[in-house]
Amino acid sequence: MSAHRVLVLNGPNLNLLGKRQPEIYGTETLDDVEAECRRVAEELGLTLEFRQSNAEHELIGWLHSARETVAGIVINPAAFSHTSVAIMDALAACPCPIIEVHISNIHRREAFRHHSYVSQVASGVICGCGTQGYALALFRLAALLEKATP
Ligand code: DQA
Repeated sequence: MSAHRVLVLNGPNLNLLGKRQPEIYGTETLDDVEAECRRVAEELGLTLEFRQSNAEHELIGWLHSARETVAGIVINPAAFSHTSVAIMDALAACPCPIIEVHISNIHRREAFRHHSYVSQVASGVICGCGTQGYALALFRLAALLEKATP
């Protein structure tokens, strides 16, 4: 396991970022988000793995692999936040710090978005900060990892 390796995981429909409901999620694409994450990660001395899937089982498989390979996880589980006990359980099996990100402020939206299973196992939650939330999450992870490294 590398002390600086971080997984940024994106759930369903985030591949459509920039095209899908731009009034809620903005006009930046997931490629833009990845580029910004890579820029910030380099500044922070982190090595990045950036992934997106629309399939719950694929996200879970990546989390299983991450258990022994990454020092931290940033996850935007998208709609699975509100439905997936399986993703919550897979995250709970990861010993590293986890930061949950939502681009929109889920608490200002429909009631079914107010609850996230993932928050139960996250070290921190960032929501409503737009795509900047990803960079904020990386800053937080870097701080947590620095504290953990003797
Ligand atoms: C989201 C919020 C979720 O409620 C929604 O299902 C998404 C994106 C966000 O980033 O704001 O797909 O996670």
